[in-house]
Amino acid sequence: MNDQHRGRMTRDGIRIHEAADFAGMHKAGALASDILDKVAEHVFVGQTTGAIDKFIEDQVNAAGARSATIGYKGYQHASCISVNHVVCHGIPGDKVLKDGDILNIDVTVIVDGWYGDTSRMYVAGKLSRKTERLIQITHDSLMFGIEAVKPGNTFGDIGHAIQSFVERQRMSVVRDFCGHGLGRVFHSPPNVLHYGRPGSAATLEEGMFFTIEPMVNLGRAETKILADDWTAVTRDKSLSAQFEHSVGVTANGCEIFTLSKAGKFHPTYG
Ligand code: MF3
Ligand code: CO
Ligand code: CO
Repeated sequence: MNDQHRGRMTRDGIRIHEAADFAGMHKAGALASDILDKVAEHVFVGQTTGAIDKFIEDQVNAAGARSATIGYKGYQHASCISVNHVVCHGIPGDKVLKDGDILNIDVTVIVDGWYGDTSRMYVAGKLSRKTERLIQITHDSLMFGIEAVKPGNTFGDIGHAIQSFVERQRMSVVRDFCGHGLGRVFHSPPNVLHYGRPGSAATLEEGMFFTIEPMVNLGRAETKILADDWTAVTRDKSLSAQFEHSVGVTANGCEIFTLSKAGKFHPTYG
């Protein structure tokens, strides 16, 4: 059997991977996560997002891996760096970080054909109370989503866990972008919505691999794409945060492929 086509596919086109495939995902996830651990000391006031991206690209190359984003639909960088009101897909460049800026750094690598995709928040300089709360709620919403990952639950259960928690805090969940299946491909079914009704959408099965990557805004949920065709920003210019893990469904729950070995996933605690 061709290695690319191990396992089977559900009616919704979601690949069911085999037990042996978890190892490949753990390796790819660990590299992406290790790089994000190392990036922390490169985030400071006066630093450019382009310099951070250069560090990331060097790390991917030094590991003998490949960046999944360079060349992806014409994208040319090893990371997306989304500062303040940028929701996602911020393009690294000359932008200089100022005191109090918050940024999401999103890295996807390919190791032995397997994709590892993760992102987290960083802070340049001093964090304000309001911003700290946004980051905390976004982080916790991802974790509540992950707690809903087990066979028999549905993707709607994941979305509902995230949405209900975030909206209780009077923040909003972005609906224009979602998580996705991954494995030996970058973006595959299903679309993992970060909002939804309990029991809706496809049922989770052991062997499904996907990301959960909620984007949370302090203001309204609406986004727009800038003229560069990538950068997504909040329409009302309110601050936005995001965290992303890649996970695999197991018999009783899930394994997170992108855990931080250094305990640095959250910017102010482990
Ligand atoms: N890593 C992003 C995700 O979480 C995708 C980035 S695609 C890029 O799905 F081309 F913008 F890099
Ligand atoms: Co992703
Ligand atoms: Co990502």
